[in-house]
Amino acid sequence: MKKILVTRRLLQSNEDRLKELYEVKLNSNDELYSQKKLVELSEGCDGILSALTDKLDKETINKLPDSVKILSNFAVGFGNIDLDTAKKRNIIVTNTPEVLTDATAEIGILLILGACRRASEGIEGARLSNWKWSADYLIGKQLTGSRLGILGMGRIGKKIAKIAKSLGMIIHYHNRSKLTQDQEDGAIYHKDLKSLMNVSDVLSICCPASKETINMINKDTLECLPKGAVVTNVARGDIVDDEALIDALNRRKIYAVGLDVYKGEPNLNPGYLKHKSAFILPHLGSATKETRTAMANLAIENLEEFFKTGACKNKVN
Ligand code: DGY
Repeated sequence: MKKILVTRRLLQSNEDRLKELYEVKLNSNDELYSQKKLVELSEGCDGILSALTDKLDKETINKLPDSVKILSNFAVGFGNIDLDTAKKRNIIVTNTPEVLTDATAEIGILLILGACRRASEGIEGARLSNWKWSADYLIGKQLTGSRLGILGMGRIGKKIAKIAKSLGMIIHYHNRSKLTQDQEDGAIYHKDLKSLMNVSDVLSICCPASKETINMINKDTLECLPKGAVVTNVARGDIVDDEALIDALNRRKIYAVGLDVYKGEPNLNPGYLKHKSAFILPHLGSATKETRTAMANLAIENLEEFFKTGACKNKVN
């Protein structure tokens, strides 16, 4: 029986399935393992079912025992893993695409609505019961007729576009390559990021974090947005230069932000906390029972496929 280290606690049904298939080292206290502890625990294991909270950088991967052949990441994103080092060590890395598209797109829409319609201020007012209805109380930005710029038109970007379109938004996007007309479904392509930023009343960041996209949203690119634009991020914090975004909020260049992901999670730049116009969530993208179950099942299937065939369709390195 193969031996698997599972770095974070999963839902019960997923852990039960893992126990049937493998000799598993579970993390019943859901402790956030240090890199040192993760390496120690992986001793004698054939694979690791990792989570986005595990920093599997070059140093850590280089210390993993030779027995580890697969890192099955419980996430669609894999910015927490140094893919090149894993490849050099002959360790395959897999992710969990598709199953979390809908749940993450829902949060993407929530960010847009929450930021545009001043949900943080509204929730605070309602909780404190210190609000008074008036014709101009918490007036926000209406989505109908405004332009949504989607950075990264993958599965999640496309789903956000579809919902936003039904809300009356006009969809623009920037992607490495132009989609087919059918896939575009009326969305307008921008080859250049700055050209997308120029027309984005609301920006939705949906692209993966990679060497190319780190700090892509920075002082320079933010300046291209129309004054009073809204910036939302459902992808990864690394894509945004926080200081530049907070400065743009301070200057009211940016009207509001809607964020679910941050550099250095779970800590977020305190500059955001000062802003009532920051609608912030704690990385809830895939957090529904259906989706978390499906993600873990897929992470398990990735292990299964790899141990049976030596390959895996969800390999990312
Ligand atoms: C992922 O899987 O990358 C998501 O961010 C999880 O919520």
